[in-house]
Amino acid sequence: RLLIIDFGSQVTQLIARRLRELNVYCEIHPYQNVTDAFLKEFAPKAIVFSGGPDSVTREGSPRPPKSAYELGVPILGICYGQQVMMHDLGGKVEAGQSHTAEFGRAYVTPKEDRLDLLSGWFLDGSGREQVWMSHGDHVSEIAPGFEVYATSPGAPFAITADVSRKFYAVQFHPEVHHTPNGKTLYENFIREAGFTGDWTMDAYREEAVRKIREQVGASKVICALSGGVDSSVTAALLHEAIGDQLTCVFVDHGLLRLNEADEVVAMFRDHMNLSVIHAQEQDLFLGELEGVSDPETKRKIIGKLFIDVFQKYADQIEDATFLAQGTLYPDVIESVSFSGGPSVTIKSHHNVGGLPEKMGLKLVEPLRELFKDEVRALGHELGLPASFIGRHPFPGPGLAIRCPGEITREKLDILRKADAVYIDQIRKHGLYDEIWQAFVAILPVRTVGVMGDGRTYDYACALRAVTSVDGMTADYYPFTHEFLGETATRIINEVKGINRCTYDITSKPPGTIEWE
Ligand code: XMP
Repeated sequence: RLLIIDFGSQVTQLIARRLRELNVYCEIHPYQNVTDAFLKEFAPKAIVFSGGPDSVTREGSPRPPKSAYELGVPILGICYGQQVMMHDLGGKVEAGQSHTAEFGRAYVTPKEDRLDLLSGWFLDGSGREQVWMSHGDHVSEIAPGFEVYATSPGAPFAITADVSRKFYAVQFHPEVHHTPNGKTLYENFIREAGFTGDWTMDAYREEAVRKIREQVGASKVICALSGGVDSSVTAALLHEAIGDQLTCVFVDHGLLRLNEADEVVAMFRDHMNLSVIHAQEQDLFLGELEGVSDPETKRKIIGKLFIDVFQKYADQIEDATFLAQGTLYPDVIESVSFSGGPSVTIKSHHNVGGLPEKMGLKLVEPLRELFKDEVRALGHELGLPASFIGRHPFPGPGLAIRCPGEITREKLDILRKADAVYIDQIRKHGLYDEIWQAFVAILPVRTVGVMGDGRTYDYACALRAVTSVDGMTADYYPFTHEFLGETATRIINEVKGINRCTYDITSKPPGTIEWE
C-alpha cells in the first residue's frame, strides 16, 4: 500500500482519488500521526508528500520523519512536499517573492527527457506541458543527487528527481483537473514503485469485513438505515461481517416518497435478511410539523425528533455498543483539514447529526476510506441492486423541504403521486442516470384551470432536475420542450389535485437544489 502524508493541502484527497483510479490502495495520514513507529508498522511501498499551506522556511513547520527517506521506497513530493524534500536532503528553499510566486495555470518545459516519470508527457509536439501551480515559496537550490527535468517561468525546479533513489519532487499539482496529464505522472510513479494496479473492490470488501470483526468483536451494533446509498452499503457490509449482531432502525417520518418505506424495508429484511426495525413514527413527525411553514424550523423539528426516535428504538436493543455510520472519505479529510490535526472531529452524517455524541456509542465507519463512486462499486459487490445503488440523493428532511409552506397529509399525498409520475417519465426517456437529482415540489398556491367542461382550482407544482458533480453547484437539466410538455400533461391528467406545472430553471448558485 501507498502512504500519503498530508501536510494540509486543500487537494490532498484528489491524490488519493487519482491513485485509487489506478487501482492502487492508499491511505492519507496527517503528518502529525506519521512517526518513525508509524512508518515501520505501515510499511509503505511508496510515499507521497502532499502540498500544504505552511512555509518550509518557518521554524517548526511540518516535516516527515527522517526515517521516511531511509526506507528505500520511492517518494513523490508535491509543492510543499517538494520543498520539504529539498530542504531535508540538503537543498534550499526561499520564501515567497512576488515575481516567483505562481498561482493557477503554468507551463513546464522539459530539460531532460530520460526521466521515466515523464514518459507520456510533452507528446503533443508543443514541447511544453500545462500544469497547475499554487506556490509562494520556491526551491532555490536542489539537493545533492537531484537533477532538474523541467522548468517553468516561476519554478526553475518544476520537476526534479534523484532517479537512483527514486525520489521525485514537483512544484505543481499533478492531481488536479487543470494538470491534464497529471494522471500519467502518477501512473509512471506507481509503476516505478512496483504496484501492479490490482487493488479492487473485492479486495477492499474482504479487508473491510476483517477490520469490522476485529473492531466490533462480539458486541452489538445499531445502524440508522435511510435507504440512501451510504447507509445501505454500510448496513450490507456490516451484515456480511457480523450477521445478527447488527440491528438497523429505519425511521419512517411520513415524509418519504411513494412506496419508499415498504421497498427499503422489504429489500433489507426479506431480500438481504437483515434485522430491521421499521419505526412507524409518521403521526409524531407530522403532528409536530402541523402549522409550521418556516424552513429552518421544519428542519430543526425533524432533526431533533429523528434523534429522539432513533434513541428510543436503540434503547430497546440491549447492550448495543457501536453505532455504524456511512461517513465517506471526503467527510473525513474535510474535518482533518479544518481541525488541522490528529484529533479529528468526524463530521456527523447529515441524516443522523448529533447521534454519536448524545448516545455515548462507539463508532464503526467502514466507508471512511472510500469516495462516493467507490461506495457504489462496493454496494454492487455486496449484491445491492443497481437500481438502488444508482438512486438520486434524497435529503434527510425528505418531502418536508419540497412542500413550501404548511405541510399537510393531503399535500404530501399529491406530491408523492406527482413525483412518481415525473420520475417514471425520466426513466422511460432514459435520462435518470444523466441527472444528479430530480423531484417535484408542490407549491403553496392554487390556480384556476379548466378540465373537460369544468373549472378546477388546484395546486401548482414545480419540476426540478439538475446536473451536478457534488451537489455544491448545479445547473438545471435541459429537457426538450416535448419532454416537458408530455410530463406536464401526464401529471395533470394522472394526479388529482394538481392543475398546473412549471419547470424550475434556476442554477445553484444563486438558487439551491431543494426549495427549502
Ligand atoms: P441544496 O438544497 O442545499 O442541496 O442545494 C444540496 C444537496 O444536499 C441535499 N440536502 C440534504 N441532504 N440532509 C441531507 O441528507 C439535509 O438536511 C439536506 N438538505 C439538502 C439535497 O437534496 C442536495 O442533494
